Amino acid sequence: MTNQTVQINKGLEGIVVAETALSKVFGEEGRLIYRGIPIQEFVENDALYEEVVYLLWNGKLPTKAELDAFMADLASKRALPDTVVNQITQFPKTADPMVVLRTVVSMLHMYDENPDDLSPENLRRIGSNLLAKFPTILATFHRYRQGLDPVAPRTDLTHAANYLYMLNGKEPGPRSVEGVNAYLVLLADHGFNASTFTARVVAGTQADMYGAITGAVASLKGPLHGGAPTALVKQMEEVGDPANAEKYVEEALAAKKRIMGIGHRVYKTYDPRARILKRMAENIAKETGNTRWYELAAAIEAAALPRLEAKRLYTNVDFYSVPLLLSLGLPTDMLTPTFAVSRVAGWVAHLLEQYADNRLMRPRSFYVGPEEAHYVPIDQRG
Ligand code: ACO
Repeated sequence: MTNQTVQINKGLEGIVVAETALSKVFGEEGRLIYRGIPIQEFVENDALYEEVVYLLWNGKLPTKAELDAFMADLASKRALPDTVVNQITQFPKTADPMVVLRTVVSMLHMYDENPDDLSPENLRRIGSNLLAKFPTILATFHRYRQGLDPVAPRTDLTHAANYLYMLNGKEPGPRSVEGVNAYLVLLADHGFNASTFTARVVAGTQADMYGAITGAVASLKGPLHGGAPTALVKQMEEVGDPANAEKYVEEALAAKKRIMGIGHRVYKTYDPRARILKRMAENIAKETGNTRWYELAAAIEAAALPRLEAKRLYTNVDFYSVPLLLSLGLPTDMLTPTFAVSRVAGWVAHLLEQYADNRLMRPRSFYVGPEEAHYVPIDQRG
Protein backbone atom coordinates (compact mmCIF):
# COMPACT_ATOMS: atom_id res chain seq x y z
CA MET A 1 0.00 0.00 0.00
CA THR A 2 1.52 3.36 -1.00
CA ASN A 3 0.22 6.84 -0.33
CA GLN A 4 -0.83 6.88 -3.98
CA THR A 5 -3.20 3.93 -3.47
CA VAL A 6 -4.51 4.62 0.04
CA GLN A 7 -7.23 7.18 0.64
CA ILE A 8 -6.73 8.94 3.96
CA ASN A 9 -9.93 10.35 5.47
CA LYS A 10 -8.43 12.72 7.98
CA GLY A 11 -10.97 13.55 10.66
CA LEU A 12 -13.11 10.63 9.35
CA GLU A 13 -15.08 13.15 7.29
CA GLY A 14 -17.74 11.37 5.25
CA ILE A 15 -17.03 7.95 6.81
CA VAL A 16 -20.11 6.12 8.05
CA VAL A 17 -19.19 3.83 10.97
CA ALA A 18 -22.53 2.92 12.53
CA GLU A 19 -26.29 3.12 12.25
CA THR A 20 -28.30 5.18 14.71
CA ALA A 21 -32.05 5.65 15.17
CA LEU A 22 -31.65 8.60 17.54
CA SER A 23 -31.31 11.92 15.74
CA LYS A 24 -30.83 13.32 12.26
CA VAL A 25 -29.59 16.72 11.18
CA PHE A 26 -30.92 18.15 7.91
CA GLY A 27 -28.28 20.81 7.31
CA GLU A 28 -29.73 22.36 4.15
CA GLU A 29 -33.25 22.74 5.53
CA GLY A 30 -32.26 23.63 9.10
CA ARG A 31 -34.09 20.72 10.64
CA LEU A 32 -33.25 18.41 13.55
CA ILE A 33 -35.30 15.39 14.54
CA TYR A 34 -35.18 13.06 17.54
CA ARG A 35 -36.54 9.65 16.51
CA GLY A 36 -38.45 11.41 13.72
CA ILE A 37 -39.96 14.19 15.84
CA PRO A 38 -38.89 17.77 14.93
CA ILE A 39 -37.24 19.42 17.92
CA GLN A 40 -39.58 22.42 17.70
CA GLU A 41 -42.51 20.18 18.63
CA PHE A 42 -40.99 19.35 22.00
CA VAL A 43 -40.60 23.02 22.88
CA GLU A 44 -44.01 24.04 21.47
CA ASN A 45 -45.62 21.36 23.66
CA ASP A 46 -43.58 22.21 26.79
CA ALA A 47 -42.06 18.73 26.80
CA LEU A 48 -39.84 18.07 29.76
CA TYR A 49 -36.19 17.15 29.21
CA GLU A 50 -36.97 13.89 31.02
CA GLU A 51 -39.53 13.00 28.30
CA VAL A 52 -36.89 13.50 25.62
CA VAL A 53 -34.42 11.36 27.56
CA TYR A 54 -37.04 8.64 27.83
CA LEU A 55 -37.75 8.88 24.09
CA LEU A 56 -34.07 8.65 23.18
CA TRP A 57 -33.42 5.70 25.50
CA ASN A 58 -36.61 3.75 24.82
CA GLY A 59 -37.66 4.63 21.28
CA LYS A 60 -41.10 5.93 22.28
CA LEU A 61 -42.61 8.82 24.17
CA PRO A 62 -43.56 7.79 27.73
CA THR A 63 -47.12 7.50 28.95
CA LYS A 64 -47.94 9.65 31.99
CA ALA A 65 -47.33 6.66 34.32
CA GLU A 66 -44.04 5.79 32.59
CA LEU A 67 -42.84 9.38 32.80
CA ASP A 68 -43.76 9.66 36.48
CA ALA A 69 -41.86 6.47 37.27
CA PHE A 70 -38.85 7.55 35.20
CA MET A 71 -38.73 10.98 36.85
CA ALA A 72 -39.05 9.48 40.32
CA ASP A 73 -36.21 7.09 39.57
CA LEU A 74 -33.97 9.93 38.32
CA ALA A 75 -34.85 12.12 41.29
CA SER A 76 -33.97 9.28 43.70
CA LYS A 77 -30.50 9.04 42.16
CA ARG A 78 -29.56 12.73 42.38
CA ALA A 79 -27.62 12.70 45.65
CA LEU A 80 -23.90 11.91 45.56
CA PRO A 81 -22.27 9.47 47.99
CA ASP A 82 -20.98 11.47 51.01
CA THR A 83 -17.41 10.38 50.32
CA VAL A 84 -17.64 11.82 46.81
CA VAL A 85 -18.96 15.15 48.16
CA ASN A 86 -16.05 15.14 50.63
CA GLN A 87 -13.59 14.53 47.83
CA ILE A 88 -15.04 17.33 45.68
CA THR A 89 -14.46 19.69 48.60
CA GLN A 90 -10.76 18.75 48.57
CA PHE A 91 -10.32 19.76 44.91
CA PRO A 92 -8.50 23.03 44.15
CA LYS A 93 -11.10 25.81 43.93
CA THR A 94 -9.44 26.93 40.71
CA ALA A 95 -10.22 23.61 38.97
CA ASP A 96 -12.02 23.72 35.62
CA PRO A 97 -15.58 22.39 36.23
CA MET A 98 -15.24 20.20 33.12
CA VAL A 99 -12.22 18.53 34.71
CA VAL A 100 -14.17 18.12 37.95
CA LEU A 101 -17.05 16.53 36.02
CA ARG A 102 -14.75 14.20 34.09
CA THR A 103 -12.98 13.16 37.29
CA VAL A 104 -16.12 12.55 39.35
CA VAL A 105 -17.83 10.59 36.56
CA SER A 106 -14.84 8.28 36.48
CA MET A 107 -14.77 8.11 40.29
CA LEU A 108 -18.42 7.04 40.46
CA HIS A 109 -17.46 3.67 38.95
CA MET A 110 -15.78 2.87 42.29
CA TYR A 111 -19.00 3.61 44.22
CA ASP A 112 -21.21 1.44 41.99
CA GLU A 113 -21.80 -2.12 43.11
CA ASN A 114 -22.21 -3.45 39.57
CA PRO A 115 -20.38 -1.09 37.20
CA ASP A 116 -19.07 -3.54 34.59
CA ASP A 117 -22.20 -5.55 33.82
CA LEU A 118 -23.13 -4.63 30.24
CA SER A 119 -26.65 -6.09 30.26
CA PRO A 120 -29.24 -3.64 28.87
CA GLU A 121 -31.05 -3.27 32.24
CA ASN A 122 -27.83 -2.53 34.08
CA LEU A 123 -26.67 -0.08 31.40
CA ARG A 124 -29.96 1.83 31.76
CA ARG A 125 -29.49 1.92 35.52
CA ILE A 126 -25.98 3.35 35.13
CA GLY A 127 -27.19 5.80 32.48
CA SER A 128 -29.90 7.14 34.82
CA ASN A 129 -27.42 7.26 37.69
CA LEU A 130 -25.04 9.42 35.66
CA LEU A 131 -27.67 11.66 34.09
CA ALA A 132 -29.28 12.24 37.49
CA LYS A 133 -25.95 13.11 39.13
CA PHE A 134 -24.40 15.47 36.52
CA PRO A 135 -26.15 18.59 37.92
CA THR A 136 -25.31 17.60 41.50
CA ILE A 137 -21.60 17.17 40.72
CA LEU A 138 -21.42 20.59 39.08
CA ALA A 139 -23.55 22.46 41.62
CA THR A 140 -21.62 20.90 44.52
CA PHE A 141 -18.30 22.04 43.09
CA HIS A 142 -19.58 25.46 42.02
CA ARG A 143 -20.90 26.24 45.49
CA TYR A 144 -17.83 24.87 47.25
CA ARG A 145 -15.49 27.07 45.19
CA GLN A 146 -17.52 30.12 46.21
CA GLY A 147 -17.20 29.11 49.88
CA LEU A 148 -20.87 28.02 50.05
CA ASP A 149 -22.34 24.80 51.45
CA PRO A 150 -23.77 22.35 48.91
CA VAL A 151 -27.54 22.43 48.44
CA ALA A 152 -29.06 18.95 48.68
CA PRO A 153 -31.04 17.98 45.58
CA ARG A 154 -34.84 18.13 45.78
CA THR A 155 -36.90 15.21 44.51
CA ASP A 156 -40.01 17.30 43.78
CA LEU A 157 -38.38 19.48 41.10
CA THR A 158 -37.77 18.70 37.44
CA HIS A 159 -34.24 18.10 36.22
CA ALA A 160 -33.94 21.70 34.93
CA ALA A 161 -35.47 23.33 38.01
CA ASN A 162 -33.42 21.22 40.42
CA TYR A 163 -30.17 22.12 38.63
CA LEU A 164 -30.86 25.85 39.04
CA TYR A 165 -32.04 25.29 42.61
CA MET A 166 -28.84 23.47 43.58
CA LEU A 167 -26.67 26.15 41.95
CA ASN A 168 -28.36 29.12 43.60
CA GLY A 169 -30.01 27.69 46.71
CA LYS A 170 -33.35 29.19 45.78
CA GLU A 171 -36.21 28.17 43.54
CA PRO A 172 -35.85 29.61 40.04
CA GLY A 173 -38.55 31.61 38.25
CA PRO A 174 -40.80 29.92 35.66
CA ARG A 175 -39.17 31.56 32.61
CA SER A 176 -35.74 30.47 33.84
CA VAL A 177 -36.91 26.87 34.28
CA GLU A 178 -38.64 26.94 30.89
CA GLY A 179 -35.50 28.29 29.21
CA VAL A 180 -33.11 25.81 30.82
CA ASN A 181 -35.50 22.92 30.14
CA ALA A 182 -35.68 23.98 26.46
CA TYR A 183 -31.89 24.29 26.34
CA LEU A 184 -31.53 20.76 27.77
CA VAL A 185 -34.09 19.41 25.26
CA LEU A 186 -32.46 21.10 22.26
CA LEU A 187 -28.91 19.97 22.98
CA ALA A 188 -29.70 16.39 24.01
CA ASP A 189 -28.42 14.75 20.82
CA HIS A 190 -26.90 15.78 17.51
CA GLY A 191 -25.83 12.89 15.30
CA PHE A 192 -22.30 11.54 15.42
CA ASN A 193 -20.52 14.51 16.98
CA ALA A 194 -17.02 14.14 18.45
CA SER A 195 -17.98 13.41 22.07
CA THR A 196 -20.65 10.89 21.04
CA PHE A 197 -18.16 9.17 18.79
CA THR A 198 -15.59 9.14 21.62
CA ALA A 199 -18.10 7.45 23.94
CA ARG A 200 -18.84 4.83 21.30
CA VAL A 201 -15.14 4.13 20.68
CA VAL A 202 -14.60 3.47 24.39
CA ALA A 203 -17.70 1.26 24.56
CA GLY A 204 -16.51 -0.56 21.45
CA THR A 205 -13.80 -2.23 23.57
CA GLN A 206 -16.57 -3.40 25.95
CA ALA A 207 -15.22 -1.07 28.61
CA ASP A 208 -17.71 0.21 31.19
CA MET A 209 -20.21 3.04 30.72
CA TYR A 210 -18.53 5.26 33.33
CA GLY A 211 -15.35 5.12 31.27
CA ALA A 212 -17.20 5.84 28.02
CA ILE A 213 -18.93 8.88 29.52
CA THR A 214 -15.66 10.07 31.08
CA GLY A 215 -14.18 10.02 27.57
CA ALA A 216 -17.17 11.91 26.18
CA VAL A 217 -16.82 14.68 28.79
CA ALA A 218 -13.10 14.92 27.98
CA SER A 219 -13.93 15.31 24.30
CA LEU A 220 -16.69 17.88 24.83
CA LYS A 221 -14.23 20.16 26.67
CA GLY A 222 -12.28 21.05 23.52
CA PRO A 223 -12.73 24.50 21.95
CA LEU A 224 -13.65 22.94 18.60
CA HIS A 225 -16.60 21.17 20.22
CA GLY A 226 -18.36 22.14 23.46
CA GLY A 227 -15.72 24.67 24.46
CA ALA A 228 -16.75 27.23 21.78
CA PRO A 229 -18.91 29.36 24.17
CA THR A 230 -15.79 30.72 25.89
CA ALA A 231 -14.79 32.55 22.69
CA LEU A 232 -18.34 33.88 22.36
CA VAL A 233 -18.24 35.41 25.83
CA LYS A 234 -14.91 37.04 24.96
CA GLN A 235 -16.47 38.48 21.79
CA MET A 236 -19.42 39.93 23.71
CA GLU A 237 -17.07 41.43 26.29
CA GLU A 238 -15.00 43.01 23.51
CA VAL A 239 -18.10 44.56 21.97
CA GLY A 240 -19.00 45.81 25.45
CA ASP A 241 -22.09 47.79 24.43
CA PRO A 242 -24.78 47.02 21.81
CA ALA A 243 -24.08 50.40 20.21
CA ASN A 244 -20.57 49.18 19.29
CA ALA A 245 -21.77 46.03 17.50
CA GLU A 246 -21.91 47.44 13.93
CA LYS A 247 -18.42 48.90 14.16
CA TYR A 248 -17.01 45.77 15.82
CA VAL A 249 -18.46 43.41 13.19
CA GLU A 250 -17.38 45.61 10.28
CA GLU A 251 -13.83 45.87 11.56
CA ALA A 252 -13.63 42.17 12.46
CA LEU A 253 -14.77 41.09 8.99
CA ALA A 254 -12.45 43.59 7.29
CA ALA A 255 -9.60 42.03 9.31
CA LYS A 256 -10.79 38.56 8.12
CA LYS A 257 -11.72 37.57 11.67
CA ARG A 258 -14.64 35.23 12.37
CA ILE A 259 -17.75 36.22 14.20
CA MET A 260 -18.20 33.63 16.91
CA GLY A 261 -21.53 31.83 17.06
CA ILE A 262 -22.08 32.26 13.33
CA GLY A 263 -21.58 29.47 10.78
CA HIS A 264 -21.87 25.71 11.09
CA ARG A 265 -20.25 22.78 9.31
CA VAL A 266 -23.61 21.08 8.75
CA TYR A 267 -26.33 23.79 8.91
CA LYS A 268 -26.33 26.07 5.88
CA THR A 269 -29.28 28.03 7.21
CA TYR A 270 -30.44 29.33 10.61
CA ASP A 271 -29.85 26.61 13.21
CA PRO A 272 -33.35 25.55 14.33
CA ARG A 273 -32.16 25.35 17.94
CA ALA A 274 -30.84 28.92 17.84
CA ARG A 275 -34.23 30.29 16.79
CA ILE A 276 -35.90 28.86 19.90
CA LEU A 277 -33.03 29.70 22.22
CA LYS A 278 -33.15 33.32 21.08
CA ARG A 279 -36.74 33.60 22.31
CA MET A 280 -35.92 31.81 25.56
CA ALA A 281 -32.85 33.99 26.16
CA GLU A 282 -34.99 37.09 25.75
CA ASN A 283 -37.59 35.76 28.21
CA ILE A 284 -34.95 34.90 30.80
CA ALA A 285 -33.29 38.30 30.41
CA LYS A 286 -36.67 39.92 31.16
CA GLU A 287 -37.36 37.65 34.14
CA THR A 288 -33.93 38.04 35.76
CA GLY A 289 -33.52 41.70 34.75
CA ASN A 290 -30.05 40.75 33.49
CA THR A 291 -30.60 41.93 29.91
CA ARG A 292 -27.02 42.86 29.04
CA TRP A 293 -26.02 39.57 27.39
CA TYR A 294 -29.17 39.18 25.32
CA GLU A 295 -28.98 42.75 24.07
CA LEU A 296 -25.33 42.38 23.13
CA ALA A 297 -25.97 39.11 21.28
CA ALA A 298 -28.98 40.50 19.41
CA ALA A 299 -26.99 43.57 18.32
CA ILE A 300 -24.04 41.46 17.11
CA GLU A 301 -26.40 39.17 15.20
CA ALA A 302 -28.19 42.12 13.58
CA ALA A 303 -24.84 43.50 12.43
CA ALA A 304 -23.38 40.18 11.30
CA LEU A 305 -26.13 38.33 9.42
CA PRO A 306 -26.70 40.84 6.57
CA ARG A 307 -22.95 40.79 5.94
CA LEU A 308 -22.59 36.97 6.05
CA GLU A 309 -25.80 35.60 4.53
CA ALA A 310 -24.28 35.62 1.04
CA LYS A 311 -21.79 33.02 2.29
CA ARG A 312 -24.65 31.01 3.82
CA LEU A 313 -23.44 31.73 7.32
CA TYR A 314 -26.17 31.89 9.94
CA THR A 315 -26.59 31.88 13.68
CA ASN A 316 -25.58 28.60 15.35
CA VAL A 317 -26.74 26.97 18.59
CA ASP A 318 -24.07 28.57 20.76
CA PHE A 319 -25.01 32.12 19.84
CA TYR A 320 -28.07 32.37 22.09
CA SER A 321 -27.26 29.51 24.50
CA VAL A 322 -24.51 31.67 25.89
CA PRO A 323 -26.61 34.77 26.78
CA LEU A 324 -29.38 32.47 28.02
CA LEU A 325 -27.09 30.80 30.55
CA LEU A 326 -25.12 33.95 31.42
CA SER A 327 -28.26 35.89 32.26
CA LEU A 328 -29.11 33.15 34.76
CA GLY A 329 -25.89 34.06 36.55
CA LEU A 330 -23.79 31.11 35.35
CA PRO A 331 -20.12 31.99 34.98
CA THR A 332 -18.34 31.35 31.67
CA ASP A 333 -16.66 28.14 32.84
CA MET A 334 -20.05 26.57 33.67
CA LEU A 335 -21.38 26.91 30.09
CA THR A 336 -19.70 23.83 28.61
CA PRO A 337 -20.50 21.71 31.72
CA THR A 338 -24.16 22.70 31.31
CA PHE A 339 -23.96 21.48 27.71
CA ALA A 340 -22.78 18.15 29.21
CA VAL A 341 -25.78 18.12 31.58
CA SER A 342 -27.94 17.97 28.45
CA ARG A 343 -25.81 15.87 26.10
CA VAL A 344 -25.31 13.00 28.55
CA ALA A 345 -28.81 11.94 27.40
CA GLY A 346 -27.51 11.45 23.86
CA TRP A 347 -24.28 9.81 25.01
CA VAL A 348 -26.15 7.19 27.03
CA ALA A 349 -28.62 6.60 24.18
CA HIS A 350 -25.74 6.06 21.74
CA LEU A 351 -24.02 3.76 24.21
CA LEU A 352 -27.16 1.65 24.52
CA GLU A 353 -27.08 1.30 20.72
CA GLN A 354 -23.35 0.58 20.69
CA TYR A 355 -23.36 -2.09 23.41
CA ALA A 356 -26.41 -3.76 21.82
CA ASP A 357 -24.72 -4.15 18.43
CA ASN A 358 -21.03 -3.80 19.14
CA ARG A 359 -18.03 -3.99 16.91
CA LEU A 360 -14.60 -2.94 18.13
CA MET A 361 -13.63 0.29 16.36
CA ARG A 362 -10.19 -0.20 14.93
CA PRO A 363 -9.33 2.07 11.98
CA ARG A 364 -5.90 2.01 10.42
CA SER A 365 -3.25 4.62 9.89
CA PHE A 366 -0.84 5.05 7.01
CA TYR A 367 2.73 4.66 8.27
CA VAL A 368 5.00 7.43 7.03
CA GLY A 369 8.03 6.81 9.27
CA PRO A 370 11.29 5.13 8.17
CA GLU A 371 10.91 1.49 7.10
CA GLU A 372 14.32 0.46 8.38
CA ALA A 373 16.32 1.87 11.28
CA HIS A 374 18.54 0.27 13.93
CA TYR A 375 18.92 0.50 17.66
CA VAL A 376 22.00 2.47 18.74
CA PRO A 377 23.33 1.75 22.26
CA ILE A 378 23.08 4.85 24.45
CA ASP A 379 26.86 5.38 24.78
CA GLN A 380 27.18 5.52 20.98
CA ARG A 381 24.49 8.18 20.39
CA GLY A 382 25.74 11.60 19.36
N1 ACO B 1 -17.49 34.77 10.56
C1 ACO B 1 -16.99 35.25 9.41
N2 ACO B 1 -16.69 34.48 8.35
C2 ACO B 1 -16.88 33.18 8.47
C3 ACO B 1 -17.41 32.61 9.63
C4 ACO B 1 -17.72 33.44 10.71
N3 ACO B 1 -18.22 32.96 11.84
N4 ACO B 1 -17.50 31.26 9.46
C5 ACO B 1 -17.05 31.03 8.23
N5 ACO B 1 -16.66 32.17 7.61
C6 ACO B 1 -16.19 32.33 6.24
C7 ACO B 1 -14.76 31.84 6.09
O1 ACO B 1 -13.83 32.85 6.35
C8 ACO B 1 -14.76 31.40 4.65
O2 ACO B 1 -14.68 32.56 3.83
P1 ACO B 1 -13.86 32.53 2.43
O3 ACO B 1 -14.55 31.48 1.61
O4 ACO B 1 -14.03 33.91 1.92
O5 ACO B 1 -12.47 32.15 2.79
C9 ACO B 1 -16.15 30.81 4.45
O6 ACO B 1 -16.97 31.47 5.42
C10 ACO B 1 -16.22 29.30 4.69
O7 ACO B 1 -15.54 29.01 5.89
P2 ACO B 1 -15.24 27.52 6.38
O8 ACO B 1 -14.31 27.53 7.54
O9 ACO B 1 -14.84 26.66 5.21
O10 ACO B 1 -16.69 27.08 6.83
P3 ACO B 1 -17.05 25.81 7.66
O11 ACO B 1 -18.44 25.47 7.33
O12 ACO B 1 -16.05 24.75 7.52
O13 ACO B 1 -16.93 26.36 9.16
C11 ACO B 1 -17.34 26.85 11.40
C12 ACO B 1 -17.85 26.14 10.14
C13 ACO B 1 -16.00 26.23 11.82
C14 ACO B 1 -18.36 26.66 12.52
C15 ACO B 1 -17.16 28.35 11.09
O14 ACO B 1 -18.36 28.89 10.60
C16 ACO B 1 -16.67 29.16 12.29
O15 ACO B 1 -15.45 29.18 12.55
N6 ACO B 1 -17.60 29.84 13.04
C17 ACO B 1 -17.25 30.61 14.20
C18 ACO B 1 -16.92 29.70 15.38
C19 ACO B 1 -18.17 29.07 15.97
O16 ACO B 1 -19.21 29.70 16.15
N7 ACO B 1 -18.04 27.78 16.34
C20 ACO B 1 -19.16 27.03 16.94
C21 ACO B 1 -19.75 26.11 15.93
S1 ACO B 1 -21.27 25.40 16.47
C22 ACO B 1 -20.90 24.26 17.58
O17 ACO B 1 -19.80 23.77 17.67
C23 ACO B 1 -21.91 23.78 18.53
